[in-house]
Amino acid sequence: MRIVIAGQGYVGLPLAVRAAEVGHQVVGYDVDERRIKRLAVGESYVEDIPGERLRPLLDGGRYLPTADPADVADFDIAVITVPTPLRDGVPDLSFIEASAKLLARHLKRGATVVLESTTYPGTTEELLAPLLEAGSGLRAGADFHLGYSPERIDPGNPQWKLENTPKVVSGTTPDGLAAVAGFYGQLVERTVPVSSCKEAELTKLLENTFRHVNIALVNELAMFAHDLDIDVWEAIDAASTKPFGFLRFTPGPGVGGHCLPIDPSYLSWRVERALGQSFRFVELANDVNSHMPDYVVRRLAEALNQRRRSVNGSRVLLLGLAYKKNTGDARETPAARIVELLTRQGAEVRAADPHVVAGVHVAEPHDAGPLATVQRVEATPEELAAADAVVLLADHDEFDYAAVTAHAQYVLDCRHRLTGASVEVL
Ligand SMILES: NC(=O)c1ccc[n+]([C@@H]2O[C@H](COP(=O)([O-])OP(=O)(O)OC[C@H]3O[C@@H](n4cnc5c(N)ncnc54)[C@H](O)[C@@H]3O)[C@@H](O)[C@H]2O)c1
Repeated sequence: MRIVIAGQGYVGLPLAVRAAEVGHQVVGYDVDERRIKRLAVGESYVEDIPGERLRPLLDGGRYLPTADPADVADFDIAVITVPTPLRDGVPDLSFIEASAKLLARHLKRGATVVLESTTYPGTTEELLAPLLEAGSGLRAGADFHLGYSPERIDPGNPQWKLENTPKVVSGTTPDGLAAVAGFYGQLVERTVPVSSCKEAELTKLLENTFRHVNIALVNELAMFAHDLDIDVWEAIDAASTKPFGFLRFTPGPGVGGHCLPIDPSYLSWRVERALGQSFRFVELANDVNSHMPDYVVRRLAEALNQRRRSVNGSRVLLLGLAYKKNTGDARETPAARIVELLTRQGAEVRAADPHVVAGVHVAEPHDAGPLATVQRVEATPEELAAADAVVLLADHDEFDYAAVTAHAQYVLDCRHRLTGASVEVL
């Protein structure tokens, strides 16, 4: 079948590659010409898709990365994997709208359109369907199939990949569901059908809100536990031995990426607009998690103070700018706020991150701002020793942790990765 994937980012590229690998003819359409140029020469910017996986598909003509809207023509199945950001707290669905208008122009009878972008319940039927119908003159459910299937991709996760993670699928009609489930059934080991698109849309938001709230819970606990002189990490380890009714979440310098800082707000926006009620759990979690960078800087200032130093004039080395270990995803990363706060207080901030390379990464447009200005270094013994304080923000496997503890004067470890006399855990 001829498949179009609109959006070739963290979600769309792995999907395009998988669909091509199982034998489909895949067009990966993206408006970002720089990315398309890189893909066309077999260069991937998504860690989980190495160039070696791309190149045979390109050579065999099964995968066509393109920024030309005309290449979208004549698809059997189109999947939309474009960004769904927030603008001033309000969902920005303009990327979905743009994709819908383009796909509508090429929509043919019997084709299937699936939305994968994370969004509030109701989007597929209330926003996408009318746009596809208006642009094509066809009717959703009657002339073409429409569905929603949330993505669960976890970049950098070596165990759970697209193929072995169950995929929730839905359609606006039973035939639509069958078409969507049939397509994904070729790509993943297990599909999980739900009765309508709204349930599928809510599933994704439930999953991310669940994580957001639980991370906020342990973050708040970590702050209290520190003041009470209790080791929260030991308590979390002990609680994790319970074989039922407990799920392990760990504190950190704040949440980042495309999901946690954004998706729960899609749900609270929808609840507020439809019901006039606030989603208090989301608001509380947003509040706690978004203040973690301030807490990191406060802890750092206290530690420097104990050494008769001020933040002003201190040299601080940040290890890891990505929001998550072993990835180069710096979107919404809490490191940006930490850089901003430290710089504003007069610190000399340097940062090492082997994954986040300014100017070349998929997350690069979001790096503009504090991260663009921070001096980038390698975490050499000299850099570690010359810093008044080292802050471990993302515990990438590439860092030499023995060197960190051997050479750093003081380390604030936000990931509980290190031990030693110079190390303090968040
Ligand atoms: N990254 C994740 O781990 C993850 C996981 C699950 C769900 N999601 C959701 O999937 C969606 C995509 O996220 P992502 O992480 O892949 O984003 P991304 O920024 O990595 O990729 C999106 C791509 O879409 C392109 N694009 C923008 N407008 C376009 C258009 N009109 N037509 C074609 N391409 C267009 C962008 O240039 C970009 O390359 C979002 O809704 C996100 O919430 C992301």
